[in-house]
Amino acid sequence: MSATRREGRVECRHVAKTFGEEWARQIVVQDASFVVEEGALNVFIGPSGCGKSTLISLIAGYEEPTAGEITIDGVRVQGPGRDRLVVFQETALFPWMTSVENVMFGPTVRGTNPREARQEATALLEKVGLRGFEDKYPSQLSGGMQRRCELARALINQPRIMLMDEPFRGLDAMTRELMQEYLLRLFEESRHTILFVTSELEEAIFLADRLLILSAKPTSVKHVLAIDLPRPRDFHVLTSQRYAELKQEALEALYQEAVKAFSKGSKAAYDLVEAFGKRSSVS
Ligand SMILES: Nc1ncnc2c1ncn2[C@@H]1O[C@H](COP(=O)(O)OP(=O)(O)OP(=O)(O)O)[C@@H](O)[C@H]1O
Ligand SMILES: [Mg+2]
Repeated sequence: MSATRREGRVECRHVAKTFGEEWARQIVVQDASFVVEEGALNVFIGPSGCGKSTLISLIAGYEEPTAGEITIDGVRVQGPGRDRLVVFQETALFPWMTSVENVMFGPTVRGTNPREARQEATALLEKVGLRGFEDKYPSQLSGGMQRRCELARALINQPRIMLMDEPFRGLDAMTRELMQEYLLRLFEESRHTILFVTSELEEAIFLADRLLILSAKPTSVKHVLAIDLPRPRDFHVLTSQRYAELKQEALEALYQEAVKAFSKGSKAAYDLVEAFGKRSSVS
């Protein structure tokens, strides 16, 4: 039996990112050092506007760090690469292609036999619950279906790491829960390295092997919490004692960060402090 090859380990060492000219300089990331472990579902959670998308852009190679270094499996990131696929909140499906054409696009461009690519795309669409929708165009799919089609399109390329920047934001609660379960099922089968960004704590804990808690801007990783809930997971886990403990621990860390941001005058942080304040006092 061949050993499972696990790759996609990201290491950030003292990474900083500053935007703007000298007179309007804004430090968004400051001295961020952390490891995204291979074969694990790593979740970034942090206050709104703290720099989550900036961190994703740095790892994706769309932006260059102002200081520090990012490596993937020991190799320095120097630009975008096929080994890293980013799934954003907005749909990026080609509107003029059907679902199956969208999914098979990557491998076909790289020279895979179209018949094989179509077979693989069809199998992946089935896995994400889109059987029967292979020949529909994105405009004929619901928001959740589009997101699932995108998951299939990313997975077919066998990326070393999937970077997911709030891919389920804006979906209604039920669709979001369904998407989380689809993602977990796909992850638990494939064990791709995933770096998933969210600002929703329940989503974060439900999905994660490791929770990387970010500070307010200028951001860095302040706490890493191992989420030791058993896999495969389903929604029953949300009623377990361990889930409640982990949530409380994460809430306290996030709350501290939000209070700091609030003291610097951030309106978003104020909302967060208020929300967490309410939730903490209820539980
Ligand atoms: N290309 C850019 N040029 C200048 N400033 C930028 C750029 N990209 C991001 N910023 C600034 O960096 C800060 C963090 O933005 P970012 O989008 O990374 O935060 P976020 O945590 O993803 O926010 P949200 O919760 O809204 O998704 C913001 O103040 C933003 O204005
Ligand atoms: Mg963002």
